[in-house]
Amino acid sequence: MTSMMNALSQFFRVMTINGGAQLLEMDRQYHFLAACLEHPATTGEIAKRCDTQEKPTRLILEGLAALGLLQEDSERFRLTDLGKLLATTPQILGNRFWDHLPEYLRTGEPIIKMDVLQHQAEHYQTEVGPLGWMLSPAAEEAAGVMEIGARRKGLRILDVGAGSAVWSLAMIHRDRSSKVTALDWPEVLAIAKQRAKAQQLDPQLDVLAGDVHQVALPVGAFDLAILANITHLETPEGNQHVFKRVYAALDEQGEAIIIDVFPGSAEGDLTRILYRLGLALRTEHGQVYSSEELIRQLRAAGFRSCGLTLLKSPPHILGMLIAAK
Ligand SMILES: C[S@@+](CC[C@H](N)C(=O)[O-])C[C@H]1O[C@@H](n2cnc3c(N)ncnc32)[C@H](O)[C@@H]1O
Repeated sequence: MTSMMNALSQFFRVMTINGGAQLLEMDRQYHFLAACLEHPATTGEIAKRCDTQEKPTRLILEGLAALGLLQEDSERFRLTDLGKLLATTPQILGNRFWDHLPEYLRTGEPIIKMDVLQHQAEHYQTEVGPLGWMLSPAAEEAAGVMEIGARRKGLRILDVGAGSAVWSLAMIHRDRSSKVTALDWPEVLAIAKQRAKAQQLDPQLDVLAGDVHQVALPVGAFDLAILANITHLETPEGNQHVFKRVYAALDEQGEAIIIDVFPGSAEGDLTRILYRLGLALRTEHGQVYSSEELIRQLRAAGFRSCGLTLLKSPPHILGMLIAAK
């Protein structure tokens, strides 16, 4: 009986995931969310704008509401914050990558190579803003785990492959005596600067534009280096090269934190597999490393002790390896 109940629960979960995907696909084709962007609208108004029949439109709108994208008040549908985000930046669902899946299965070729240096600035300048939004709670959690502003303060932080600098900005927000140097491509650093300015953290932010493998890094100049979501873009040799450079840039008591995807939370099991698939669709040699493999690479670069802490915040797949010199 129990195994029958388990099978039924799993079946309904799979059926619901599939049905939810169909609702999103209908929005992709008919733009129901976008039809509510200017002001809340009735089913009739939305059906007219989308050129659909009222009865099925109502059912889809109810489904989109159950997914948390719409809310119905007095017979009018209005966008939730998440609905607004999807209506204005639908690309964050990654459909341009998912659309390539059949081709990828046939050819084994990714749609783009986001890990190839020449393509990075172009791709990441649009990706890192939404990524910063998605990772904000995890970044605040990480700053808490590191006891920034309490046990660790007045830090000189190097944020390697900073993107929107979401991780380091969460730290200097907790400790106004810490400073960050964000390292990334110039086009991407513009996003980090914007984010810092919006949070009035720009006086604590410095930038260093260039390739992490080549740009001149001051020796022994930082207390903490953050490498968030970049180890999965590198080969093992590439990681080791970056770790060695970071090691040299750290003070004698310095620490590095590697934030990336790690197993450990059952809640993130499906997300983790989808993440790996997404990575295969958009990179040439991107791969998610085990903590054991990263620790091996860190030790080979000179780091002594390394410990893993899983982050509980969404997306429930991230963890941080803290490595000491
Ligand atoms: C997946 S994003 C992660 C951004 C940010 N750390 C985060 O967790 O949101 C990877 C970032 O690393 C940067 N990056 C990757 N390889 C780099 C390299 N060789 N030199 C400089 N930046 C690099 C990319 O431009 C991009 O901003």
